[in-house]
Amino acid sequence: MNKILIAPSLLSADFSNLNKEIKEIEQAGADWLHLDVMDGLFVPNITFGPLVIKALRPLTHLFFDCHLMIAEPTRYIKKFADAGADMITIHLEAVRNISTAIKMIKDCNVKIGISLNPETPVTEVYPYLKDIDMVLLMSVHPGFSGQSFIDIRFKVEALKKEINLVKQDILIEVDGGMSKETAPIVANMGANVIVAGSSIFDTPDRKQAITEIRNSIIEVNI
Ligand code: DX5
Ligand code: ZN
Repeated sequence: MNKILIAPSLLSADFSNLNKEIKEIEQAGADWLHLDVMDGLFVPNITFGPLVIKALRPLTHLFFDCHLMIAEPTRYIKKFADAGADMITIHLEAVRNISTAIKMIKDCNVKIGISLNPETPVTEVYPYLKDIDMVLLMSVHPGFSGQSFIDIRFKVEALKKEINLVKQDILIEVDGGMSKETAPIVANMGANVIVAGSSIFDTPDRKQAITEIRNSIIEVNI
């Protein structure tokens, strides 16, 4: 069975009470915590950096899935690793030398992901599949939570085929507009990690929201 991981995105949480929000989604059955780092340059929004991630680290055992939407992330990779990131995902569009960036992340002994914006062809990540742990396919234009899902199911399908072809053990994460309606669309194509911000945090009962997304996904052997 293809186990699907649910990664709530902290971007939609109540920032005046992150301690409570994180503990609540941990109790509610989240698998990972998705942390959206934005610099106001690569994307038109600013969130938080290593200092905040370091402060959150002792609050939970959840896997810290750090999604860096920042220009030239190589400048800060070590800082995010030291802050407690378990996975560092960088954007292919944001980095000059992808091989150097991959090596820097590996040298920090954290997992590595590469992310693609909705309009970036999925084939652009193929040369790096043997070196990475995850591909994050954006299903919204990065920068904000609460946007509508852009249907990238065929990118997921093509990537899954390529991963099977090269026999690599790589996760496919989909981020943006994920809900109990849209998560099954990409899960059925081979996505293993579903990031969900507003569809979890904007509801009073986060446990119910996570359970509903989980139940909406028909687990498949691909
Ligand atoms: C957008 C972020 C997403 C966002 C998802 O740039 O990368 O992680 O928080 O939020 P929803 O699930 O509301 O689209
Ligand atoms: Zn994200």
